[in-house]
Amino acid sequence: MGEAPLPPTRWALGGAKTSGYGARFAELIADGADVVGEARLADTLVERGATILDAGSGMGRIGAHLLSLGHRVTAAEPDPALVEQSRRTFPELPVIPLEILALSPEALAAAGAPLAYDLVVCVGNVLTFVAEDTEVAVLRRLGSLLAPGGRILVGFHLQQGPTTARVYPLDEFVADVAAAGLVVQHRFGGYDLRPVDDLYSVAVLAQG
Ligand SMILES: C[S@@+](CC[C@H](N)C(=O)[O-])C[C@H]1O[C@@H](n2cnc3c(N)ncnc32)[C@H](O)[C@@H]1O
Repeated sequence: MGEAPLPPTRWALGGAKTSGYGARFAELIADGADVVGEARLADTLVERGATILDAGSGMGRIGAHLLSLGHRVTAAEPDPALVEQSRRTFPELPVIPLEILALSPEALAAAGAPLAYDLVVCVGNVLTFVAEDTEVAVLRRLGSLLAPGGRILVGFHLQQGPTTARVYPLDEFVADVAAAGLVVQHRFGGYDLRPVDDLYSVAVLAQG
């Protein structure tokens, strides 16, 4: 018997169609805008030449910047249009065309990717776009991909996020983190380490 198919992500159900995300970031990059704030924080969390997974890498802006800083970066993205955009825009960034729940050791090995990571980056509302009721499983899977001492950088809107994403209240997120066997090491209100607020949540997670 084969494995049960994975449930559709909220992104597949509507986010991709309505957000204009890929085109917006292509335009911002063409205009020379700063689109790598998340990557600057990610870079401070690791030693030089770290092994990094960009989980839900979208059009590749974060993974590509971390790669340019000398890290060994693997990107994983399930939306075929974004995989195509990422490969066209950042051909040097390896992208596994799979979603987080499909990142088994076998799948990573088949893609020639590391099985364990110093840092997993899961930013830009990825967690609010995963399939309904898979948040704990997604967090657990990300935790299972950490090297000893490895960490996860997560960021998503608490309010005023994309209309096709879920609202993910902070207390529910913190409970899901614990249910996934992880702990919250740090919390901020943005990638510039501003104090926590009720608009956006940045968290650094580690194995409990
Ligand atoms: C707003 S985009 C952000 C992309 C990228 N992280 C960035 O910040 O530029 C949300 C992304 O979440 C991805 N996503 C949603 N559910 C996912 C899952 N279960 N596994 C991997 N990626 C997922 C979507 O495919 C989409 O690329």
